[in-house]
Amino acid sequence: MTTQDELRPTLTTEAGAPVADNQNTETAGVGGPALIQDQQLFEKLAHFNRERIPERVVHARGAGAYGTFTVTADVTAYTRAAFLSEVGKQTETFLRFSTVAGNLGAADAVRDPRGFALKFYTEEGNYDLVGNNTPVFFIKDAGKFPDFIHTQKRDPYTGSQEADNVWDFWGLSPESTHQVTWLFGDRGIPASYRHMNGYGSHTYQWQNEAGEYFWVKYHFKTDQGVRSLTQAEANRLAGEDPDSHQRDLREAIERGEFPAWTVQVQIMPAADAAAYRFNPFDLTKVWPHADYPPIEIGRLELNRNPDNVFAEVEQSIFSPAHFVPGIGPSPDKMLQGRLFAYADAHRYRVGVNADHLPVNRPHATEALTNHRDGHLYDGRHGRRKNYEPNSFGGPVQTGRPLWAPLPVDGATGTHEAPSHAEDNDFVQAGDLYRLMGEDEKQRLVDNLSGFIAKVSADREDIVERAVGNFRKADADFGQRLETAVRELRKQR
Ligand code: HEM
Repeated sequence: MTTQDELRPTLTTEAGAPVADNQNTETAGVGGPALIQDQQLFEKLAHFNRERIPERVVHARGAGAYGTFTVTADVTAYTRAAFLSEVGKQTETFLRFSTVAGNLGAADAVRDPRGFALKFYTEEGNYDLVGNNTPVFFIKDAGKFPDFIHTQKRDPYTGSQEADNVWDFWGLSPESTHQVTWLFGDRGIPASYRHMNGYGSHTYQWQNEAGEYFWVKYHFKTDQGVRSLTQAEANRLAGEDPDSHQRDLREAIERGEFPAWTVQVQIMPAADAAAYRFNPFDLTKVWPHADYPPIEIGRLELNRNPDNVFAEVEQSIFSPAHFVPGIGPSPDKMLQGRLFAYADAHRYRVGVNADHLPVNRPHATEALTNHRDGHLYDGRHGRRKNYEPNSFGGPVQTGRPLWAPLPVDGATGTHEAPSHAEDNDFVQAGDLYRLMGEDEKQRLVDNLSGFIAKVSADREDIVERAVGNFRKADADFGQRLETAVRELRKQR
Protein backbone atom coordinates (compact mmCIF):
# COMPACT_ATOMS: atom_id res chain seq x y z
CA MET A 1 0.00 0.00 0.00
CA THR A 2 1.38 3.47 -0.91
CA THR A 3 1.49 6.31 1.59
CA GLN A 4 -1.25 8.07 -0.40
CA ASP A 5 -3.55 5.04 -0.03
CA GLU A 6 -2.89 5.01 3.70
CA LEU A 7 -4.12 8.64 3.91
CA ARG A 8 -7.44 7.86 2.26
CA PRO A 9 -10.49 7.77 4.56
CA THR A 10 -12.35 4.55 5.18
CA LEU A 11 -15.58 3.90 3.29
CA THR A 12 -18.43 3.44 5.77
CA THR A 13 -22.12 2.61 6.03
CA GLU A 14 -24.62 5.38 6.85
CA ALA A 15 -24.12 4.45 10.50
CA GLY A 16 -20.40 5.08 10.12
CA ALA A 17 -19.15 1.50 10.39
CA PRO A 18 -16.25 0.51 8.09
CA VAL A 19 -17.10 -1.32 4.86
CA ALA A 20 -14.87 -4.37 4.39
CA ASP A 21 -15.76 -5.24 0.76
CA ASN A 22 -17.56 -2.89 -1.64
CA GLN A 23 -17.07 -5.19 -4.65
CA ASN A 24 -18.55 -8.58 -3.67
CA THR A 25 -21.93 -9.38 -2.16
CA GLU A 26 -21.84 -11.83 0.72
CA THR A 27 -23.07 -15.27 -0.36
CA ALA A 28 -23.69 -18.69 1.13
CA GLY A 29 -20.58 -20.36 -0.12
CA VAL A 30 -18.74 -19.57 -3.35
CA GLY A 31 -21.39 -19.16 -6.09
CA GLY A 32 -24.30 -19.49 -3.63
CA PRO A 33 -27.30 -17.10 -3.04
CA ALA A 34 -26.90 -13.78 -1.20
CA LEU A 35 -27.24 -13.56 2.58
CA ILE A 36 -29.68 -11.30 4.40
CA GLN A 37 -26.90 -10.38 6.80
CA ASP A 38 -25.21 -8.38 4.00
CA GLN A 39 -26.82 -5.17 5.30
CA GLN A 40 -24.34 -3.02 3.39
CA LEU A 41 -25.83 -4.32 0.13
CA PHE A 42 -29.40 -3.72 1.30
CA GLU A 43 -28.63 -0.21 2.56
CA LYS A 44 -27.05 0.64 -0.79
CA LEU A 45 -29.90 -0.75 -2.91
CA ALA A 46 -32.62 0.71 -0.70
CA HIS A 47 -31.09 4.19 -0.64
CA PHE A 48 -30.67 4.11 -4.41
CA ASN A 49 -34.37 3.29 -4.82
CA ARG A 50 -35.22 6.50 -2.98
CA GLU A 51 -32.89 8.92 -4.77
CA ARG A 52 -35.65 10.73 -6.67
CA ILE A 53 -38.25 13.14 -5.33
CA PRO A 54 -41.27 14.07 -7.48
CA GLU A 55 -40.17 16.36 -10.27
CA ARG A 56 -41.84 19.77 -10.56
CA VAL A 57 -45.25 19.34 -12.23
CA VAL A 58 -44.16 22.15 -14.58
CA HIS A 59 -40.67 23.63 -15.09
CA ALA A 60 -39.13 20.27 -14.16
CA ARG A 61 -36.06 20.79 -16.30
CA GLY A 62 -33.76 23.57 -15.15
CA ALA A 63 -30.41 24.94 -14.01
CA GLY A 64 -29.49 27.45 -11.32
CA ALA A 65 -26.77 29.75 -10.05
CA TYR A 66 -26.09 32.16 -7.20
CA GLY A 67 -25.46 35.81 -7.80
CA THR A 68 -25.57 39.40 -6.63
CA PHE A 69 -28.18 42.10 -7.13
CA THR A 70 -26.93 45.69 -6.92
CA VAL A 71 -29.21 48.72 -6.65
CA THR A 72 -28.34 51.41 -9.23
CA ALA A 73 -31.12 53.97 -8.72
CA ASP A 74 -32.98 55.55 -5.82
CA VAL A 75 -36.44 53.96 -5.70
CA THR A 76 -37.33 54.92 -2.13
CA ALA A 77 -40.11 57.16 -3.47
CA TYR A 78 -41.86 53.97 -4.61
CA THR A 79 -40.96 51.18 -2.16
CA ARG A 80 -39.74 50.79 1.39
CA ALA A 81 -38.20 47.37 0.70
CA ALA A 82 -34.92 47.41 2.64
CA PHE A 83 -32.89 45.64 -0.05
CA LEU A 84 -33.82 48.44 -2.49
CA SER A 85 -33.17 51.26 -0.01
CA GLU A 86 -29.80 52.59 -1.19
CA VAL A 87 -27.86 52.95 -4.41
CA GLY A 88 -24.95 50.50 -4.34
CA LYS A 89 -26.62 48.12 -1.89
CA GLN A 90 -26.01 44.44 -2.72
CA THR A 91 -28.16 41.38 -2.03
CA GLU A 92 -27.28 37.73 -2.55
CA THR A 93 -29.55 35.93 -5.04
CA PHE A 94 -30.25 32.48 -6.45
CA LEU A 95 -31.76 32.15 -9.93
CA ARG A 96 -33.22 28.99 -11.46
CA PHE A 97 -33.89 28.89 -15.18
CA SER A 98 -36.14 26.23 -16.69
CA THR A 99 -38.28 25.11 -19.56
CA VAL A 100 -41.98 24.58 -18.83
CA ALA A 101 -43.40 21.47 -20.45
CA GLY A 102 -40.49 19.01 -20.61
CA ASN A 103 -39.82 16.40 -17.96
CA LEU A 104 -36.65 16.35 -15.87
CA GLY A 105 -34.52 14.73 -18.57
CA ALA A 106 -35.91 16.68 -21.54
CA ALA A 107 -33.71 18.64 -23.96
CA ASP A 108 -33.02 22.32 -23.31
CA ALA A 109 -33.15 23.62 -26.90
CA VAL A 110 -36.92 23.53 -27.43
CA ARG A 111 -39.63 26.06 -28.23
CA ASP A 112 -41.12 26.78 -24.83
CA PRO A 113 -41.17 29.72 -22.43
CA ARG A 114 -38.23 29.76 -20.01
CA GLY A 115 -38.69 30.12 -16.27
CA PHE A 116 -36.74 32.93 -14.60
CA ALA A 117 -37.18 32.25 -10.87
CA LEU A 118 -35.20 34.64 -8.71
CA LYS A 119 -34.70 34.54 -4.97
CA PHE A 120 -33.35 37.64 -3.19
CA TYR A 121 -31.92 36.73 0.23
CA THR A 122 -32.85 40.07 1.85
CA GLU A 123 -32.45 41.19 5.45
CA GLU A 124 -36.25 41.24 5.73
CA GLY A 125 -36.65 37.68 4.49
CA ASN A 126 -36.46 36.01 1.11
CA TYR A 127 -38.19 37.79 -1.75
CA ASP A 128 -39.00 35.48 -4.68
CA LEU A 129 -39.83 36.83 -8.12
CA VAL A 130 -40.98 33.77 -10.06
CA GLY A 131 -41.13 34.98 -13.65
CA ASN A 132 -40.55 33.85 -17.20
CA ASN A 133 -38.59 35.08 -20.22
CA THR A 134 -41.87 36.35 -21.68
CA PRO A 135 -43.67 39.51 -20.55
CA VAL A 136 -47.12 37.89 -20.93
CA PHE A 137 -48.79 34.49 -20.46
CA PHE A 138 -51.29 32.23 -22.27
CA ILE A 139 -54.24 32.63 -19.92
CA LYS A 140 -55.53 35.09 -17.37
CA ASP A 141 -57.36 32.99 -14.79
CA ALA A 142 -55.62 30.54 -12.46
CA GLY A 143 -58.49 28.06 -12.79
CA LYS A 144 -57.45 27.37 -16.39
CA PHE A 145 -53.82 26.55 -15.57
CA PRO A 146 -54.13 22.78 -14.97
CA ASP A 147 -56.17 22.40 -18.20
CA PHE A 148 -53.63 24.42 -20.15
CA ILE A 149 -50.71 22.39 -18.82
CA HIS A 150 -52.50 19.11 -19.54
CA THR A 151 -52.52 20.12 -23.22
CA GLN A 152 -48.79 20.86 -23.15
CA LYS A 153 -47.88 17.59 -21.45
CA ARG A 154 -48.54 14.00 -22.50
CA ASP A 155 -51.94 12.84 -23.74
CA PRO A 156 -53.49 10.22 -21.41
CA TYR A 157 -53.84 7.71 -24.26
CA THR A 158 -50.88 8.33 -26.59
CA GLY A 159 -48.39 9.31 -23.90
CA SER A 160 -47.07 12.10 -26.17
CA GLN A 161 -47.71 15.80 -26.59
CA GLU A 162 -50.49 16.07 -29.19
CA ALA A 163 -50.96 18.92 -31.67
CA ASP A 164 -54.73 18.27 -31.47
CA ASN A 165 -54.80 19.07 -27.75
CA VAL A 166 -52.46 22.06 -27.92
CA TRP A 167 -54.34 23.79 -30.76
CA ASP A 168 -57.75 22.79 -29.47
CA PHE A 169 -57.05 24.56 -26.18
CA TRP A 170 -55.37 27.61 -27.72
CA GLY A 171 -58.10 27.93 -30.36
CA LEU A 172 -60.77 27.84 -27.64
CA SER A 173 -58.77 30.26 -25.43
CA PRO A 174 -58.36 33.35 -27.63
CA GLU A 175 -56.58 35.21 -24.80
CA SER A 176 -53.57 32.98 -25.60
CA THR A 177 -53.08 34.59 -29.06
CA HIS A 178 -50.59 37.21 -27.85
CA GLN A 179 -48.33 34.76 -25.99
CA VAL A 180 -48.50 32.17 -28.79
CA THR A 181 -47.47 34.82 -31.34
CA TRP A 182 -44.53 35.68 -29.09
CA LEU A 183 -43.57 32.04 -28.56
CA PHE A 184 -43.48 31.11 -32.24
CA GLY A 185 -41.58 34.30 -33.13
CA ASP A 186 -37.82 34.73 -33.13
CA ARG A 187 -37.44 34.80 -29.33
CA GLY A 188 -39.26 31.51 -28.82
CA ILE A 189 -36.07 29.41 -28.54
CA PRO A 190 -33.30 31.24 -26.64
CA ALA A 191 -29.72 30.38 -27.67
CA SER A 192 -28.90 29.95 -23.96
CA TYR A 193 -30.19 31.01 -20.55
CA ARG A 194 -27.66 33.86 -20.68
CA HIS A 195 -29.02 35.29 -23.91
CA MET A 196 -32.61 36.00 -22.93
CA ASN A 197 -34.48 38.59 -20.92
CA GLY A 198 -36.48 37.85 -17.80
CA TYR A 199 -39.80 39.37 -16.76
CA GLY A 200 -41.81 39.42 -13.56
CA SER A 201 -44.74 39.24 -16.04
CA HIS A 202 -47.44 39.99 -13.47
CA THR A 203 -48.12 43.42 -12.07
CA TYR A 204 -46.94 43.73 -8.48
CA GLN A 205 -47.48 46.34 -5.80
CA TRP A 206 -44.79 48.57 -4.33
CA GLN A 207 -45.55 50.63 -1.23
CA ASN A 208 -43.37 53.48 0.06
CA GLU A 209 -42.63 54.59 3.61
CA ALA A 210 -45.49 57.14 3.49
CA GLY A 211 -47.96 54.36 2.67
CA GLU A 212 -48.52 55.36 -0.98
CA TYR A 213 -48.60 52.49 -3.43
CA PHE A 214 -47.74 51.91 -7.08
CA TRP A 215 -48.16 49.13 -9.63
CA VAL A 216 -44.91 47.78 -11.09
CA LYS A 217 -43.72 45.39 -13.77
CA TYR A 218 -40.15 44.02 -13.68
CA HIS A 219 -37.87 43.60 -16.69
CA PHE A 220 -34.43 41.92 -16.67
CA LYS A 221 -32.61 42.87 -19.87
CA THR A 222 -29.74 40.56 -20.72
CA ASP A 223 -26.37 42.32 -20.92
CA GLN A 224 -25.19 39.47 -23.18
CA GLY A 225 -27.69 40.53 -25.87
CA VAL A 226 -30.75 38.53 -26.92
CA ARG A 227 -29.74 35.56 -29.07
CA SER A 228 -32.10 32.87 -30.27
CA LEU A 229 -32.09 29.66 -32.28
CA THR A 230 -34.09 28.93 -35.40
CA GLN A 231 -36.28 25.83 -35.27
CA ALA A 232 -33.75 23.95 -37.45
CA GLU A 233 -30.79 24.96 -35.23
CA ALA A 234 -32.70 23.96 -32.13
CA ASN A 235 -33.72 20.59 -33.55
CA ARG A 236 -30.08 19.80 -34.22
CA LEU A 237 -28.79 21.05 -30.86
CA ALA A 238 -31.49 19.25 -28.86
CA GLY A 239 -30.31 16.00 -30.43
CA GLU A 240 -26.58 16.64 -30.15
CA ASP A 241 -26.52 18.12 -26.63
CA PRO A 242 -29.78 17.84 -24.66
CA ASP A 243 -28.10 19.65 -21.73
CA SER A 244 -26.96 22.60 -23.87
CA HIS A 245 -28.39 25.45 -21.77
CA GLN A 246 -27.45 23.96 -18.43
CA ARG A 247 -23.90 23.29 -19.63
CA ASP A 248 -23.55 26.77 -21.13
CA LEU A 249 -24.53 28.46 -17.87
CA ARG A 250 -22.20 26.38 -15.70
CA GLU A 251 -19.24 26.68 -18.05
CA ALA A 252 -19.63 30.45 -18.48
CA ILE A 253 -19.55 30.91 -14.70
CA GLU A 254 -16.58 28.53 -14.39
CA ARG A 255 -14.72 30.66 -16.97
CA GLY A 256 -15.46 33.77 -14.90
CA GLU A 257 -17.77 35.16 -17.60
CA PHE A 258 -20.51 36.12 -15.20
CA PRO A 259 -23.81 36.69 -16.99
CA ALA A 260 -25.61 39.89 -16.02
CA TRP A 261 -28.97 41.57 -16.51
CA THR A 262 -29.97 45.23 -16.27
CA VAL A 263 -33.02 45.42 -14.05
CA GLN A 264 -35.80 47.84 -14.98
CA VAL A 265 -39.30 48.54 -13.72
CA GLN A 266 -42.35 50.15 -15.22
CA ILE A 267 -44.17 52.11 -12.52
CA MET A 268 -47.86 53.05 -12.63
CA PRO A 269 -49.28 55.35 -9.92
CA ALA A 270 -52.17 53.53 -8.22
CA ALA A 271 -54.62 56.23 -9.30
CA ASP A 272 -53.98 55.48 -13.01
CA ALA A 273 -55.09 51.84 -12.86
CA ALA A 274 -58.89 52.23 -13.11
CA ALA A 275 -58.83 54.35 -16.27
CA TYR A 276 -55.81 52.76 -18.04
CA ARG A 277 -56.63 51.66 -21.60
CA PHE A 278 -55.75 48.02 -20.77
CA ASN A 279 -56.62 46.15 -17.60
CA PRO A 280 -53.26 46.59 -15.83
CA PHE A 281 -53.73 43.27 -14.01
CA ASP A 282 -54.31 41.19 -17.16
CA LEU A 283 -51.32 38.88 -17.62
CA THR A 284 -52.00 38.49 -21.36
CA LYS A 285 -51.18 42.18 -21.91
CA VAL A 286 -48.07 44.33 -21.69
CA TRP A 287 -48.01 47.99 -20.72
CA PRO A 288 -46.63 49.59 -23.87
CA HIS A 289 -43.36 51.35 -23.03
CA ALA A 290 -44.71 54.62 -24.44
CA ASP A 291 -47.33 54.58 -21.65
CA TYR A 292 -44.96 53.68 -18.81
CA PRO A 293 -41.27 53.85 -19.80
CA PRO A 294 -39.06 51.27 -18.05
CA ILE A 295 -36.59 52.85 -15.63
CA GLU A 296 -33.33 51.19 -14.62
CA ILE A 297 -33.06 50.27 -10.96
CA GLY A 298 -30.37 47.62 -10.65
CA ARG A 299 -27.99 45.01 -11.98
CA LEU A 300 -28.16 41.28 -11.49
CA GLU A 301 -25.04 39.16 -11.92
CA LEU A 302 -24.69 35.38 -11.61
CA ASN A 303 -21.28 34.47 -10.26
CA ARG A 304 -21.33 31.12 -8.41
CA ASN A 305 -22.34 27.64 -9.47
CA PRO A 306 -24.12 25.41 -6.98
CA ASP A 307 -21.89 22.60 -5.71
CA ASN A 308 -24.63 20.01 -5.72
CA VAL A 309 -27.38 20.11 -8.32
CA PHE A 310 -29.84 17.93 -6.41
CA ALA A 311 -29.47 19.73 -3.09
CA GLU A 312 -29.45 23.26 -4.44
CA VAL A 313 -31.38 23.19 -7.73
CA GLU A 314 -33.76 20.23 -7.57
CA GLN A 315 -34.68 21.02 -3.97
CA SER A 316 -34.81 24.78 -4.43
CA ILE A 317 -38.25 26.27 -3.91
CA PHE A 318 -39.62 29.60 -5.12
CA SER A 319 -42.99 31.07 -4.22
CA PRO A 320 -44.72 34.14 -5.66
CA ALA A 321 -46.13 34.53 -2.12
CA HIS A 322 -42.67 35.21 -0.66
CA PHE A 323 -42.89 39.00 -0.27
CA VAL A 324 -40.98 41.45 1.93
CA PRO A 325 -42.20 44.74 3.47
CA GLY A 326 -42.95 47.27 0.70
CA ILE A 327 -43.75 44.68 -1.99
CA GLY A 328 -47.01 42.80 -2.47
CA PRO A 329 -49.40 41.17 -4.92
CA SER A 330 -51.78 42.83 -7.38
CA PRO A 331 -55.34 41.58 -7.91
CA ASP A 332 -54.19 39.72 -11.08
CA LYS A 333 -56.27 36.51 -10.85
CA MET A 334 -53.41 34.37 -12.16
CA LEU A 335 -51.06 35.72 -9.54
CA GLN A 336 -53.67 35.22 -6.83
CA GLY A 337 -53.88 31.51 -7.75
CA ARG A 338 -50.12 31.21 -7.77
CA LEU A 339 -49.94 32.61 -4.23
CA PHE A 340 -51.50 29.30 -3.14
CA ALA A 341 -50.06 26.83 -5.65
CA TYR A 342 -46.33 27.01 -5.03
CA ALA A 343 -46.02 26.44 -1.28
CA ASP A 344 -48.51 23.60 -1.69
CA ALA A 345 -46.28 22.07 -4.39
CA HIS A 346 -43.22 22.47 -2.18
CA ARG A 347 -44.81 20.64 0.74
CA TYR A 348 -45.65 17.75 -1.56
CA ARG A 349 -42.45 17.71 -3.61
CA VAL A 350 -39.74 18.54 -1.06
CA GLY A 351 -41.56 18.26 2.26
CA VAL A 352 -42.90 20.40 5.07
CA ASN A 353 -39.42 21.50 6.12
CA ALA A 354 -38.29 22.48 2.61
CA ASP A 355 -37.76 26.05 3.84
CA HIS A 356 -34.99 24.84 6.17
CA LEU A 357 -32.67 23.63 3.40
CA PRO A 358 -29.58 25.77 2.88
CA VAL A 359 -30.65 27.06 -0.56
CA ASN A 360 -34.14 27.94 0.65
CA ARG A 361 -33.68 29.38 4.12
CA PRO A 362 -33.15 33.12 4.62
CA HIS A 363 -29.42 33.98 4.39
CA ALA A 364 -29.51 37.57 5.63
CA THR A 365 -31.94 37.12 8.51
CA GLU A 366 -33.29 34.32 10.68
CA ALA A 367 -36.72 32.72 10.27
CA LEU A 368 -38.48 32.90 13.66
CA THR A 369 -41.71 30.93 13.49
CA ASN A 370 -43.54 28.66 15.90
CA HIS A 371 -43.77 25.90 13.27
CA ARG A 372 -42.08 22.76 14.52
CA ASP A 373 -41.38 19.12 13.79
CA GLY A 374 -42.50 17.19 10.70
CA HIS A 375 -40.41 15.02 8.37
CA LEU A 376 -36.66 15.59 8.66
CA TYR A 377 -36.95 18.36 11.24
CA ASP A 378 -33.39 19.13 12.38
CA GLY A 379 -34.13 20.47 15.86
CA ARG A 380 -32.93 23.97 14.96
CA HIS A 381 -35.18 25.66 17.53
CA GLY A 382 -33.69 23.76 20.46
CA ARG A 383 -35.50 24.53 23.71
CA ARG A 384 -37.27 27.67 22.46
CA LYS A 385 -41.01 27.91 23.22
CA ASN A 386 -43.23 27.00 20.27
CA TYR A 387 -46.33 29.14 20.86
CA GLU A 388 -47.43 32.77 20.83
CA PRO A 389 -48.29 34.82 22.83
CA ASN A 390 -45.67 33.82 25.37
CA SER A 391 -43.93 35.55 28.27
CA PHE A 392 -40.56 33.90 27.61
CA GLY A 393 -39.25 36.54 25.21
CA GLY A 394 -40.51 34.82 22.05
CA PRO A 395 -40.83 36.64 18.71
CA VAL A 396 -43.74 39.08 18.28
CA GLN A 397 -45.75 40.52 15.39
CA THR A 398 -45.02 43.99 13.94
CA GLY A 399 -48.59 45.21 13.48
CA ARG A 400 -47.62 46.64 10.07
CA PRO A 401 -48.89 44.88 6.92
CA LEU A 402 -46.23 44.22 4.27
CA TRP A 403 -48.20 45.98 1.52
CA ALA A 404 -51.09 48.44 1.11
CA PRO A 405 -54.69 47.24 1.53
CA LEU A 406 -56.90 47.63 -1.58
CA PRO A 407 -60.39 49.08 -1.71
CA VAL A 408 -62.97 46.64 -3.16
CA ASP A 409 -66.65 46.80 -4.04
CA GLY A 410 -69.41 44.66 -5.59
CA ALA A 411 -70.69 41.18 -4.84
CA THR A 412 -68.67 37.98 -4.60
CA GLY A 413 -68.93 35.78 -7.69
CA THR A 414 -67.00 34.06 -10.47
CA HIS A 415 -66.53 37.32 -12.36
CA GLU A 416 -64.63 37.67 -15.60
CA ALA A 417 -61.63 40.01 -15.34
CA PRO A 418 -62.79 43.60 -15.96
CA SER A 419 -62.36 44.83 -19.53
CA HIS A 420 -60.84 48.28 -20.09
CA ALA A 421 -61.36 50.65 -23.06
CA GLU A 422 -58.92 49.03 -25.51
CA ASP A 423 -58.99 45.48 -24.16
CA ASN A 424 -59.62 42.54 -26.41
CA ASP A 425 -57.77 39.25 -26.87
CA PHE A 426 -56.17 40.18 -30.20
CA VAL A 427 -55.05 43.81 -30.18
CA GLN A 428 -51.58 43.28 -28.70
CA ALA A 429 -50.94 40.10 -30.74
CA GLY A 430 -51.67 42.13 -33.87
CA ASP A 431 -49.38 44.94 -32.70
CA LEU A 432 -46.58 42.42 -32.10
CA TYR A 433 -47.03 40.91 -35.58
CA ARG A 434 -46.99 44.33 -37.25
CA LEU A 435 -43.76 45.22 -35.39
CA MET A 436 -41.94 42.28 -37.00
CA GLY A 437 -39.80 42.61 -40.11
CA GLU A 438 -40.77 40.65 -43.22
CA ASP A 439 -38.25 37.84 -42.52
CA GLU A 440 -39.45 37.38 -38.96
CA LYS A 441 -43.09 37.32 -40.09
CA GLN A 442 -42.18 34.54 -42.51
CA ARG A 443 -40.38 32.52 -39.81
CA LEU A 444 -43.36 33.02 -37.48
CA VAL A 445 -45.78 31.72 -40.11
CA ASP A 446 -43.44 28.78 -40.88
CA ASN A 447 -43.12 27.84 -37.19
CA LEU A 448 -46.85 28.09 -36.52
CA SER A 449 -47.99 26.36 -39.69
CA GLY A 450 -45.52 23.49 -39.17
CA PHE A 451 -47.18 22.72 -35.84
CA ILE A 452 -50.82 23.49 -36.72
CA ALA A 453 -50.54 21.26 -39.80
CA LYS A 454 -49.97 18.29 -37.47
CA VAL A 455 -53.57 18.44 -36.20
CA SER A 456 -55.46 15.26 -37.17
CA ALA A 457 -56.82 15.26 -40.73
CA ASP A 458 -60.42 14.88 -39.54
CA ARG A 459 -60.25 17.87 -37.17
CA GLU A 460 -60.36 20.81 -39.57
CA ASP A 461 -62.49 22.61 -36.98
CA ILE A 462 -59.50 22.79 -34.61
CA VAL A 463 -57.31 24.20 -37.39
CA GLU A 464 -59.94 26.74 -38.36
CA ARG A 465 -60.42 28.01 -34.80
CA ALA A 466 -56.66 28.26 -34.24
CA VAL A 467 -56.01 30.14 -37.49
CA GLY A 468 -59.12 32.27 -36.86
CA ASN A 469 -57.57 33.78 -33.74
CA PHE A 470 -54.49 34.94 -35.66
CA ARG A 471 -56.76 36.31 -38.42
CA LYS A 472 -58.53 38.42 -35.79
CA ALA A 473 -55.14 39.74 -34.64
CA ASP A 474 -54.13 40.77 -38.17
CA ALA A 475 -55.78 39.93 -41.50
CA ASP A 476 -52.46 39.46 -43.32
CA PHE A 477 -51.17 37.20 -40.51
CA GLY A 478 -54.29 35.02 -40.73
CA GLN A 479 -54.23 34.86 -44.52
CA ARG A 480 -50.58 33.81 -44.72
CA LEU A 481 -51.02 31.25 -42.00
CA GLU A 482 -54.11 29.74 -43.62
CA THR A 483 -52.31 29.39 -46.97
CA ALA A 484 -49.23 27.83 -45.36
CA VAL A 485 -51.24 25.37 -43.26
CA ARG A 486 -53.40 24.34 -46.23
CA GLU A 487 -50.28 23.72 -48.34
CA LEU A 488 -48.63 21.56 -45.66
CA ARG A 489 -51.79 19.53 -45.01
CA LYS A 490 -52.11 18.79 -48.73
CA GLN A 491 -48.62 17.28 -48.64
CA ARG A 492 -49.39 14.96 -45.70
C1 HEM B 1 -52.15 30.09 -12.06
C2 HEM B 1 -51.13 29.85 -12.81
C3 HEM B 1 -49.95 29.03 -12.37
C4 HEM B 1 -49.89 27.97 -11.51
C5 HEM B 1 -51.03 27.32 -10.75
C6 HEM B 1 -48.52 27.55 -11.45
C7 HEM B 1 -48.03 26.50 -10.71
C8 HEM B 1 -46.72 26.09 -10.65
C9 HEM B 1 -46.24 24.97 -9.90
C10 HEM B 1 -47.10 24.05 -9.05
C11 HEM B 1 -44.90 24.91 -10.08
C12 HEM B 1 -43.93 23.88 -9.48
C13 HEM B 1 -43.38 24.41 -8.20
C14 HEM B 1 -42.46 23.42 -7.52
O1 HEM B 1 -42.70 22.22 -7.57
O2 HEM B 1 -41.49 23.89 -6.87
C15 HEM B 1 -44.52 26.00 -10.92
C16 HEM B 1 -43.25 26.31 -11.29
C17 HEM B 1 -42.90 27.48 -11.94
N1 HEM B 1 -43.76 28.43 -12.44
FE1 HEM B 1 -45.74 28.42 -12.35
N2 HEM B 1 -47.76 28.36 -12.26
C18 HEM B 1 -48.60 29.29 -12.83
C19 HEM B 1 -48.27 30.30 -13.70
C20 HEM B 1 -46.99 30.74 -13.90
C21 HEM B 1 -46.64 31.98 -14.52
C22 HEM B 1 -47.62 33.01 -15.06
C23 HEM B 1 -45.28 32.07 -14.49
C24 HEM B 1 -44.36 33.15 -14.96
C25 HEM B 1 -44.74 34.40 -15.15
C26 HEM B 1 -44.78 30.87 -13.85
C27 HEM B 1 -43.47 30.59 -13.61
C28 HEM B 1 -43.01 29.45 -12.99
C29 HEM B 1 -41.60 29.15 -12.81
C30 HEM B 1 -40.43 30.01 -13.26
C31 HEM B 1 -41.55 27.92 -12.16
C32 HEM B 1 -40.29 27.16 -11.76
C33 HEM B 1 -39.82 27.60 -10.39
C34 HEM B 1 -38.54 26.90 -10.03
O3 HEM B 1 -37.55 27.11 -10.76
O4 HEM B 1 -38.54 26.14 -9.06
N3 HEM B 1 -45.84 30.09 -13.50
N4 HEM B 1 -45.66 26.70 -11.28
